[in-house]
Amino acid sequence: MDNVVSTVEELRALQLDRLRWSLGHAYENVPHYRAAFDAAGVHPSDVQDLADLARFPFTTKADLRDNYPFGMFAVPREQVSRIHASSGTTGKPTVVGYTRDDIDTWAEVMARSIEAAGGRPGDLVHIAYGYGLFTGGIGAHYGAERLGCTVVPVSGGMTERQVQLISDFRPRVIMVTPSYFLAILDEMEAQGIDPKDTSLEIGIFGAEPWTEQMREEVQRRSNLRAVDIYGLSEVMGPGVSQESGQTQDGLHVWEDHFYPEVVDPITGEVLPDGEEGELVFTSLTKHAMPVVRYRTRDLTTLLPGTAYPQFRRMAKITGRSDDMMIVRGVNVFPSQVEEHLLAIDGLTPHYLCVLTRPGRMDELTVRVEAAEGVDEARRSALGGELRSRVKDRVGVTIAVEVLAPHALERSLGKAKRIDDQRNLC
Ligand code: DLL
Repeated sequence: MDNVVSTVEELRALQLDRLRWSLGHAYENVPHYRAAFDAAGVHPSDVQDLADLARFPFTTKADLRDNYPFGMFAVPREQVSRIHASSGTTGKPTVVGYTRDDIDTWAEVMARSIEAAGGRPGDLVHIAYGYGLFTGGIGAHYGAERLGCTVVPVSGGMTERQVQLISDFRPRVIMVTPSYFLAILDEMEAQGIDPKDTSLEIGIFGAEPWTEQMREEVQRRSNLRAVDIYGLSEVMGPGVSQESGQTQDGLHVWEDHFYPEVVDPITGEVLPDGEEGELVFTSLTKHAMPVVRYRTRDLTTLLPGTAYPQFRRMAKITGRSDDMMIVRGVNVFPSQVEEHLLAIDGLTPHYLCVLTRPGRMDELTVRVEAAEGVDEARRSALGGELRSRVKDRVGVTIAVEVLAPHALERSLGKAKRIDDQRNLC
């Protein structure tokens, strides 16, 4: 690993120093932060302790939108050497910027992430995250180069060619969304290639929620070690936290650069480690676009470090608070649906949750593909099985449609798991 602190005490001291710098940098250079801190009656010089951060106001995606495109930058635009953006569901994209130093930090944390996953200098790394405004491809690319790997910048799409390049170039590591990796596995099988026979040993999967059941499914089919990587453009991109390939027990947050808090999503109260809530990040070293208490909407729990004892882990993301479906008063996330459908032999992880409101209540229909070779009669039995499993274990009544293989559209990047048709009916 690069030169980082090795004890929690050292880390806390470094974080406090960096936090003071970052809050001051935001206050001095970004009118939004100056106004928000002043309105809350707080000043960067008030920070004596890391816990004092809780007195500072949150930043949300709406703040970034209101300052579109470059209003959140803390340096003159000429010093910004890269722009990325995430598309979002409505309206304008969220724009983020990086100085040369920021790009350098990002490459460092990404290299650290690939190494934590089990990658080594000299490995051939196949990158199938999208390149472009999305941070996945280019973020992974710079990290793999920094670690000393041979990078194959394939980007997403053209699945047949992905399979050909994997067969011919023999990568040890693949970096891709888990849902697109499933499409690659299907394509391998369609071409008569057993995914277990490829050169792939490590899959670094992220950019969308995926469950332990999905990990088992992928590892069973392909023999590779599937590890989780997390990040978001507003905070940096991929490489904010990373699961160790050895322990596979949640993601170590690179806390020397990104300070995590977990808060109650309703009250905003900071929760103690070990309790689930919304993840909030404050950047400690970013120059171009510092973020203070950025509300990610992602739900998780902070846990003590294991493979890297000085860094806390975050549990696998359960879902985004925006993706919480309330069906007859019961909260349901797509990840719960995934967990249960993968427990049923004959169903595949290709699924979509369709929300409708035929009367006054929301209804959830899960559309899921059957495995190859499953006949009509068995399909309807499998649908019944999923329905009763979800009823028993989640406590909600859903409808299930079991479809033929390949009936659902494949995503080349992040999978769409919810189709909200409530305003249409
Ligand atoms: O998805 C960055 C990234 C690229 C991460 C490649 C990992 C790999 P955004 O497009 O800004 O950035 O989307 C960020 O994606 O707030 C989460 O909701 C979700 N997300 C990212 N990684 C994970 C993960 C990239 N490992 C949003 N598990 C985040 C669950 C994830 N959700």
